[in-house]
Amino acid sequence: MLLMKFLIRGGKKLSGEIAVKGAKNAALKAMAAALLFENPVVLENMPLIEDVSRAGELLGGLGASIKKRGEGAIEIDPRGAVQSELEQEIAKRLRASVVVVGPLLARGGKASFPYPGGCVIGRRPIDVFLDGWRAMGATIKMEKGNGFCVEAGKLRGADYTFRVVSVTGTETLMMTAALAEGRTVLRNAALEPEIPALARFLNSSGARIRGAGTPTIEIEGTAGKLLRAAEAFRMIPDRIEAGSFLILGAALAPGDGLRISGCNPEHLTAVLAALRDAGARPEIGKDWVTVRRPEKLRAVNIQTREYPGFPTDLQAPFAVLMTQAEGESIIFETIFENRFGYAEDLKRMGANIFFADQHRIVVKGPTVLRGREIESPDLRAGLAFVAAALLAEGESKISNVYQIDRGYEKIDERLRKLGADIERVR
Ligand code: EPZ
Repeated sequence: MLLMKFLIRGGKKLSGEIAVKGAKNAALKAMAAALLFENPVVLENMPLIEDVSRAGELLGGLGASIKKRGEGAIEIDPRGAVQSELEQEIAKRLRASVVVVGPLLARGGKASFPYPGGCVIGRRPIDVFLDGWRAMGATIKMEKGNGFCVEAGKLRGADYTFRVVSVTGTETLMMTAALAEGRTVLRNAALEPEIPALARFLNSSGARIRGAGTPTIEIEGTAGKLLRAAEAFRMIPDRIEAGSFLILGAALAPGDGLRISGCNPEHLTAVLAALRDAGARPEIGKDWVTVRRPEKLRAVNIQTREYPGFPTDLQAPFAVLMTQAEGESIIFETIFENRFGYAEDLKRMGANIFFADQHRIVVKGPTVLRGREIESPDLRAGLAFVAAALLAEGESKISNVYQIDRGYEKIDERLRKLGADIERVR
């Protein structure tokens, strides 16, 4: 699997309709939430991606059982989850593994885990998780080999203010607090749509969470009593996948454009605004957006921000779009400190990019990109390389496709249906 590559012959125009899958970053949290329940739970609209498989293996390693339940649905039975130690190898590959620790701690009073892995996009510390658990009465020990052991006889509600706004930090502490004794207030919480989605799911299963989607979240804990899972829970559409397709449409779909269906345009306002500034005129329906390549693409400056700002996960694909735009575009990454690893490869493809400082690149366009052999460093940069290769003259080979499969379900097949010349080869 690790040896697969995408072979892409660029220059083909895209058109047609592409449906957005369920959100990866909602699915991973919903899977972790299964540990808060006394009964099995069915999760629907799950994307078939590598990260979901890894999360399944992680839960399996704890003793939970996971079954397929037809197209895009799984059932997780947490009743056998008696282990307290996350499997090292899997946890190291998945940043979201730390999200499992909160429910695991709440369920059994103990959790051991290695420093979580995931994308190489910065330092990605976990201090807010550790601080939050400590505030709830847990003790944390460093274990040999760089791992942690968190223990709590009893978790108590706490008034906790995040030093930095953290998406997974907010979700994890919200889940931990759901079973704690008393009331927790989380301040300076993240606002990403996956957070109110998770809160709705937990509330439909008996949790008492208010304010998710605002900076202050209040949770009345159950004092250790497990929740009773609602019948089924459906993942919200993946806003990053939708945004990636919007960018592809603005770059590669003249004529009738691309129709991105099954999305939630309300979650895409920052990307839509940037595309409008670039000259695209997206048409927006209730759950779809159509976008086409404008006659003239204009350079736009973007600054990544916490939701509802421009998502860091779309920064790399947007930079690729800007290689085709007229003028200079400043791409300012404010969330992660190491998210321009892809820029050198784009330069090798012919992009005119220079580094202003550690957080800013300047893309000068328009430039002709040429096909190259490139390796995908992380999943969002991987998707950006797919976009660049589709735009480029000639043939590109993108290796380390596993990174792209971590977050995008069968992207090659789905892009082929839109007219892309992309093959998965050994
Ligand atoms: C989530 O990561 C997403 N991952 C990321 O998506 C996304 O890029 C990111 O949010 C920002 O939107 C998941 O949901 C699984 P953060 P997360 O904690 O939660 C600092 C993708 O491609 N920080 O909100 O790990 C941190 O270094 C992935 O799908 C601390 O300082 O991001 C960063 O600068 C990649 N201490 C900032 O906060 C901490 O304890 C925001 O990170 C935690 C974070």
